[in-house]
Amino acid sequence: MSMCGIIGVVGASDALPILLEGLERLEYRGYDSAGVALVAPGRTWRARSADGTESVAHLEASCAAAPAGVGSGIGHTRWATHGAPGEHNAHPHVDCAGDIALIHNGIIENHAELAVDLRSRGHIFTSATDTEVLAHRIEELRKEGSDLLGSVRATLHEVRGAFALAVMDAHEPDVIIAARRISPLIVGTSTGATYLASDVPAILDRAERFFVVDDDQIVRLTPDGFSVTDLDGNPVTLRELDVDWDLETAQKGGFDDFMTKEMNEQPDALRATLLDRVNATGEITLDELSLTNEQIAHATKVVLVACGSSFHAAMVAKYAIERWARISVEVDIASEFRYRDPVVDNTTLVIGVSQSGETIDTIQALREAKSRGAMVVAVANVVDSSMAREADAVLYTRAGLEVCVASTKAVLAQVAALEVLALRLAQVRGVMSTTDIAARLAELQGVPELVARTLDRDDAVASIASALRDARDFFFLGRHVGFPVALEGALKLKEISYLHAEGYPAGELKHGPLALIEPGVVVVAIATDDELREKLLANIAEVKSRGATVVAVCSDGDSAVESVADYVAHVPRTDPLVSPLVDIVVLQQLAYHLARGRGLNVDRPRNLAKTVTVE
Ligand code: AGP
Repeated sequence: MSMCGIIGVVGASDALPILLEGLERLEYRGYDSAGVALVAPGRTWRARSADGTESVAHLEASCAAAPAGVGSGIGHTRWATHGAPGEHNAHPHVDCAGDIALIHNGIIENHAELAVDLRSRGHIFTSATDTEVLAHRIEELRKEGSDLLGSVRATLHEVRGAFALAVMDAHEPDVIIAARRISPLIVGTSTGATYLASDVPAILDRAERFFVVDDDQIVRLTPDGFSVTDLDGNPVTLRELDVDWDLETAQKGGFDDFMTKEMNEQPDALRATLLDRVNATGEITLDELSLTNEQIAHATKVVLVACGSSFHAAMVAKYAIERWARISVEVDIASEFRYRDPVVDNTTLVIGVSQSGETIDTIQALREAKSRGAMVVAVANVVDSSMAREADAVLYTRAGLEVCVASTKAVLAQVAALEVLALRLAQVRGVMSTTDIAARLAELQGVPELVARTLDRDDAVASIASALRDARDFFFLGRHVGFPVALEGALKLKEISYLHAEGYPAGELKHGPLALIEPGVVVVAIATDDELREKLLANIAEVKSRGATVVAVCSDGDSAVESVADYVAHVPRTDPLVSPLVDIVVLQQLAYHLARGRGLNVDRPRNLAKTVTVE
């Protein structure tokens, strides 16, 4: 969940240039503001800048006044989640005395609760972020006599959420305390200096050895190395990374391309998107979803508008919203919605789904809806994007920057976010019990692990792709939520392998497409939905009897499908409404390996752009 980038060094001859270089190298992660803190004995100096993608350049200018030759410091590029972009919200954040400086990538779910107690003790907050509460809590514990490590450890025991953080204190110079939960964090060592960063590129040319910090581990960095324990103080050993990468490979996390890196970020992207969605009273809370419960209860219809893969995520959402919230849902291609004189008024909840938040057709569709009086919600992956700014309410997917033109982690995060939104609608409309809602949410929280297990089966899908390397014509078939999954699988294949592929509702075969089936045609059947599996097996028999080669995506242990398909890709069993989150991953893998088998550049497919900002 690369929402922000962090970097730190202790023991350098001059920390500032190392921090600024590292922040530049994190810029491919996207950010809206940046900052550094230099910590010398008895003195913490800070500079911050909030000039969008120019933030690091402007930060460099504002560092002209920095103290020279300070060997320790921390730096941060921010991609806002809590608190709008702006200098006052930029990291590092400091305590009341300005001695403790802290940077953080992630989400502190219970920041509001922690802040109440700290304000009652007289702490003054200067930002609207969730992060700042950590600096004040650590300050409080330092006052009670703990050292920096002890104060950070005690604070993290109280925190719920995700973090990769680094903390320094002018009263303990040449020490950085760092810790991780979900957000990525690495430590680097060299002779005389020790580093930390969100990922390798930031310190690639500085450190000689690299180590991965795992969840709930806390590291104490000093110029001659580091020590690491779990949050209870038990010593642990960090896994060493074998880094012989150039910068571009490092920015791909050591993978061959951004598509593989981003596919492998999907478990963390889902964890981040699902974080902080329930408040203390069990109410489903969403980001800037500032629509009131009354407004939501007032809705008589939901219309989802989107393009491409985001449209497929919206189609999955239709099934979930109608099943859970019992409200009628229409799903429209944005470019069609705009021109069909849609039946939309002030009782319609129109939801625009977009990774970039800049797709012109989706923006214009939302404007059309707004002009007709609808309540407009944006589900976007880019904070402060055009759609986010124009909507009445925003629900952010927190997949982090997505570089690859073919969307992977953003689509999965959209499905997860939309299903949380469906539960919120069900809750407000009073058509689902708190128990059922909690059960559904718990099921969603378990999906990142299932996605990780599916990703681990990549070799099995790679061998299927290898067996199909001469195929030129693909049909993807599914029923119920398997239908949008089939459309997404076909799109992924088309856009990165340039092979012809169509997604179809399996029940439609007899109404025409069956005429196309002949030897050499590959049919990919999404067969993970138990309720409709018998019918899908019949469809498989129909296409096989006409010579098709069948690839079936089925749940672990499903022997019936195995006996009728030529190739089988297994996924962990899930509830049908959640199954797209694992089924889509297999189809990403299939498309990826078929494209790589054809020697194509999966990150930058021909004719396509990451964001379609022209009609
Ligand atoms: C998805 O793999 C494609 N790159 C494309 O269909 C994309 O989903 C579509 O252009 C919508 O983009 P958006 O989510 O940024 O609006």
